[in-house]
Amino acid sequence: MTASSNGHAPADLALRGVSKRYRQGRAAVDALRDVSLTVPAGQFAAVVGPSGSGKSTLLHLVAALDRPTVGQIQLGDWHLAELSRGEQAQFRRRMVGIVFQQFHLVPTMTARENVALPMILAGAAPERRRARAEECLAMVGLADRTGHRPAELSGGEQQRVAVARALTSDPPVLLADEPTGNLDSETGGAVIDLLREIHAGQGRTVIVVTHHVEEVEDAAEEVFCLRDGQLV
Ligand SMILES: Nc1ncnc2c1ncn2[C@@H]1O[C@H](COP(=O)(O)OP(=O)(O)OP(=O)(O)O)[C@@H](O)[C@H]1O
Ligand SMILES: [Mg+2]
Repeated sequence: MTASSNGHAPADLALRGVSKRYRQGRAAVDALRDVSLTVPAGQFAAVVGPSGSGKSTLLHLVAALDRPTVGQIQLGDWHLAELSRGEQAQFRRRMVGIVFQQFHLVPTMTARENVALPMILAGAAPERRRARAEECLAMVGLADRTGHRPAELSGGEQQRVAVARALTSDPPVLLADEPTGNLDSETGGAVIDLLREIHAGQGRTVIVVTHHVEEVEDAAEEVFCLRDGQLV
């Protein structure tokens, strides 16, 4: 079984002894301390913990948006601590889709244009972009909203557009940072259900960060709890 039709086999994720120290002049923040964990390919995993416990830092490292200060992160054959900037960008295009809490949609663009945006950077032809954007919007249940701008969509619909955008490259791993943080509990539950479908129906690894463990405890096969940068 392949999780992904983009030619990349499903990939296990492993963090070994990962620490992240942010420097602020003379002061330093140890956002992650000696974190080791594995997420097998195709698993639905959740990361929970209080504000400031290092959840977003962990997700950023797995997305190769940043490098660990110490330790190794491996996704399939990719060794994230050793990638150059160019390789990090290539890794992000091929291996991960990222859903941020704040949607990050362009207000002047329609849902279809927002979803197609990363494909412009990846060099896809206009017809292909349009078709793939519509396909991904259909996957998240928004086939009839492709021409709406963000202000013409509900919060939950905007979040689903952000999920669709993360799926355009057909990545084996989907990362979501507080995808329900701006939604009421019912709409948030619908977004978690959508992520669960993406995991179960498409065989992708899904890693969700949340404050609310009760929201994901049914869906998640594994829950990692962070406190002060450490797994507990
Ligand atoms: N770029 C940065 N520079 C310096 N310190 C940072 C930076 N990013 C995060 N931190 C610090 O690292 C710690 C962990 O931050 P992180 O964003 O990972 O927490 P979080 O668990 O995602 O919190 P929240 O639930 O509030 O989003 C915090 O104490 C934060 O202040
Ligand atoms: Mg965070």
